Amino acid sequence: MIRSKKPYAFYILVGALGVIVMAALYCVGSVCIDGLSFETGLGILTIAVGALALRERGSERGIIHRLCILVPLGAIILFPVGQIIHSGVEAFLTIGLAPLAVLTLFAVPQVALGIILVRNNEFVSGEDRPVPGSMFRMMSIFLRVREPFKKPMQRLQKVGLQEGQTVLDYGCGIGSYAIPASKIVGASGKVYALDIHPMAVERVKKRAEKIGLSNVHTILSNIDTSLPDNSVDVILLYDVLQIIKNRDGLLQEFHRVLKPSGFVSVDSDHLRPEEVQDVFASTGLFSQVDCENGLLKFMKL
Ligand SMILES: C[S@@+](CC[C@H](N)C(=O)[O-])C[C@H]1O[C@@H](n2cnc3c(N)ncnc32)[C@H](O)[C@@H]1O
Repeated sequence: MIRSKKPYAFYILVGALGVIVMAALYCVGSVCIDGLSFETGLGILTIAVGALALRERGSERGIIHRLCILVPLGAIILFPVGQIIHSGVEAFLTIGLAPLAVLTLFAVPQVALGIILVRNNEFVSGEDRPVPGSMFRMMSIFLRVREPFKKPMQRLQKVGLQEGQTVLDYGCGIGSYAIPASKIVGASGKVYALDIHPMAVERVKKRAEKIGLSNVHTILSNIDTSLPDNSVDVILLYDVLQIIKNRDGLLQEFHRVLKPSGFVSVDSDHLRPEEVQDVFASTGLFSQVDCENGLLKFMKL
């Protein structure tokens, strides 16, 4: 079973940092005691659910994992509501906004990390399936916000994408990579943007249409790409491998559709490079040729 402990550690760290920052602001008189008390309670609770989720890793139900999302999300809603009921709107607007801002600053990353924890834990058993729509919407915000930081265009140029190539973006999400890939391969190339989630496919279709990219073709599927044998130059597997349950099936499909000179580029964001290497090596279908800046490259054997 492959699951990184890193997001759990971050989740707990953010919980602790929230309390430290709120305590520091309380000491300099910038926030009220209610804010400090609430943040302390939230910090303790999130540290506890984070630690319990770490122990729960691998379970099928993963109820504690879901609490990792619900607790910080609930706090953002409950704090202002509680304050208003307790002291009234005016008091909340005077002394409640500053602690709410600090609380939100730490609770939002915890919600995002909670989503990652749930998703990391879900491949342990059962079938691959799309996440609920509400979860996809939340993930979309996260993916959109991180686009400028990931610099997809530069990354893809470094990977070696070229004009005229056929690219498969497996698990394309909102198209953070499919769209820049389409610009690089140009009108003589093609980008297949595949996702298991209908909302992802729709999103990519709309984004491509909006900027007039006619070489993006969306595929709604799980594992089966329906592409011809030996037809793809580059497969992008970015921030997806950790979610996939049927990894053997996926890599067999990749091997089938890749041209003999083709390669898979993998972002090992949530997995250690050795873990990704193990997955590919276990199939005996690929050889690793590169590992740079968190991106691994595997050639078809
Ligand atoms: C974290 S997002 C990454 C999106 C994109 N690759 C990026 O880096 O911006 C993971 C995507 O993989 C999709 N996905 C999850 N399981 C899948 C599967 N079995 N087959 C295809 N797509 C899948 C999800 O719907 C989601 O859109």
